Amino acid sequence: MTRVAGTQGYDQDVAAFFERSENVAFADKHAAVLSVHPAPPARILDIGAGSGRDAADFANLGHTVLAVEPTPALLAGAIAHHDHPAITWLDDSLPDLSAVLARGETFDLVLLSAVWMHLDEDERRRAMPNLSALLAERGVLILSLRHGPVPPGRRMFAVAATETIALAQAADLRILVHETQDSIQPANRLAGVTWTILAFQAENAADRTRQAATFTALSPL
Ligand SMILES: C[S@@+](CC[C@H](N)C(=O)[O-])C[C@H]1O[C@@H](n2cnc3c(N)ncnc32)[C@H](O)[C@@H]1O
Repeated sequence: MTRVAGTQGYDQDVAAFFERSENVAFADKHAAVLSVHPAPPARILDIGAGSGRDAADFANLGHTVLAVEPTPALLAGAIAHHDHPAITWLDDSLPDLSAVLARGETFDLVLLSAVWMHLDEDERRRAMPNLSALLAERGVLILSLRHGPVPPGRRMFAVAATETIALAQAADLRILVHETQDSIQPANRLAGVTWTILAFQAENAADRTRQAATFTALSPL
């Protein structure tokens, strides 16, 4: 049984997942948000790091990366493919991110590439204050949301950009980028898959940390 609900299906066909993930060029995948990436050396948190390709690309650009991945087969594969002295690998998951938060670090960029739509509504509501609390002053949160047919065996929700923007604004984040685009993977483009790319910037760090702590205290177990 899958430990983290959103990861359902990711322990199947791992070789094909790596092949697809590794064959996407960083500049194409992140084109909509390259202008809001921090200059190196910055601290990057890559949540749902998958094959580790983005983590490796950020590390090779001169950043330090905390790469978080809850699917054991993907985490093991990512370490095998992309071990790098500037990457720390961690088994943790949204919405609680308990192991990440326990480290007491903040980040200049928090990336959720193709991850947010794996969380249900309650998980998304619980996750956003934690993401906000992990941002350094002026730090940037980037999320991409997949729309269209759900691949067989995956747990995925239809998430509106408006809901995500409202959650981010309630967590003291202001919007920097809101774009929609067709999939850059030919098979997905043919199948009608589109993406929303969102970027937000942190405002007052003290308020955001307080909000996450209050939210955790009020959340039912
Ligand atoms: C489509 S893949 C994206 C991988 C990588 N970010 C990329 O852009 O290539 C989705 C990833 O989200 C991870 N994931 C699913 N649910 C998650 C959760 N609750 N917390 C963290 N990661 C999760 C999966 O294990 C998988 O690695």
